Amino acid sequence: MSRRPVLKTELPGPVAAGLISRSDRAISTSYTRDHPLVAERGEGVWIIDPDGNEFLDMSAGIAVTSTGHCHPRVVAAIQEQAAKLIHMSGTDFYYPVQGRLAHRLVGMQPVRGEGCRVYFGNSGAEANEAAMKLARWATGRKHFVAFLDSFHGRTYGAMSLTASKARQREGFGPFLPVTHTVYPDPYRMGERATAMAMEHLETLFRTICPPSDVAAIFVEPVQGEGGYIVPPADFLPALRALCDAHGILLVFDEVQAGMGRTGKMFAHDHFDVQPDILTLAKGIASGLPISATLASENIMKWKPGSHASTFGGNPVACAAANATLDLLQESLVQNAAEVGAKMMDMLRVAVGDHPNVGDIRGLGLMIGVELVVDKQGRGRAADLRNAVVMDCFHRSGMVILGAGQNTVRFCPALTLTEQEAATAVELFATSLNALAPV
Ligand SMILES: Cc1ncc(COP(=O)(O)O)c(C=O)c1O
Repeated sequence: MSRRPVLKTELPGPVAAGLISRSDRAISTSYTRDHPLVAERGEGVWIIDPDGNEFLDMSAGIAVTSTGHCHPRVVAAIQEQAAKLIHMSGTDFYYPVQGRLAHRLVGMQPVRGEGCRVYFGNSGAEANEAAMKLARWATGRKHFVAFLDSFHGRTYGAMSLTASKARQREGFGPFLPVTHTVYPDPYRMGERATAMAMEHLETLFRTICPPSDVAAIFVEPVQGEGGYIVPPADFLPALRALCDAHGILLVFDEVQAGMGRTGKMFAHDHFDVQPDILTLAKGIASGLPISATLASENIMKWKPGSHASTFGGNPVACAAANATLDLLQESLVQNAAEVGAKMMDMLRVAVGDHPNVGDIRGLGLMIGVELVVDKQGRGRAADLRNAVVMDCFHRSGMVILGAGQNTVRFCPALTLTEQEAATAVELFATSLNALAPV
């Protein structure tokens, strides 16, 4: 019989409750821990807590553990590298494992132009910081454009790009100069989504944001934290053309959507458009902290010392990334495409007709279900979404996350089997139907 979550206690159980209250007394108050989940062990898409409860993890540590928790080949690569060399700072010295990873990434040539180089950081925010600095340096321009509801990180530059939740900016300004524009949401804007988004951007260029001042436009090819929104097929090509017309660099932030999650190695492969700069993190190393900023040789020629990080591209993280890339290329990108498509079908069958389900969308294993007050008015059912996320956890032992104001997201490990997808859909439908009976 296929594996299912096992709840032996109320959640949190007694051991977890003790650990949570101890942790809460010492950890920064800025964390948002909605789930009282203490992860003690992980295997594949399963999490085991210290009370022996077993959870189906459809969050993958926020779209990070792409090969599943503790994939044996990733664990072996980490152990082997840790026994050889843990750190030597790639800013000043060489080590083989970093060169190998760099060549594999640039060999995919995921950016436009001649040749490719990669800068390694430790987080998605750092990858975007590097992209901002590089874009300024390469263009001599100071300004940026990003999209409302986008998320690019919480360091100062990345936070200036981020326009996801006011809480993330409240009290922290002033920011870097970023003008925010509208992302095309096919569910809410219909067939004119691309036209509306491009018209808005051109209005900004005509009025308050001279394009000749803009170094780069940052965009998520599939908007992640904003609600798992897949733009219309003509949007990224239109943005590419507009950037080219004004000498603006186009940056794709694929921190969440990249590395096979959408069923292709890079999300932009779905749209046949290449960026000038690409940022990657999250799923690249199955949970070890590493990020990558890629650009053509012509753009990434900043001076020695102009940008670097002590830990960026650390040997152990590089080894984990190399093992992750092996697994993605062997089968997991393909699995994300196949199981993702099947899971979308299963969701449509299970909850597509539910009056509070407005939209089921996604690419590969980046799937969003938008909950609405009713199908006609499309009012955002934020409370219902939050309640469903919590109910899945407490009733069934399934970990899912919200995205945007009223969307549930499924971003599991790319190892997800059809059977595990079926279990996730069943548990989600159970919670939705219990909280919003038809
Ligand atoms: C698209 C995108 N960019 C950047 C980030 C920031 O990544 P990190 O939290 O590693 O700094 C995130 C995190 O959710 C993200 O989804």
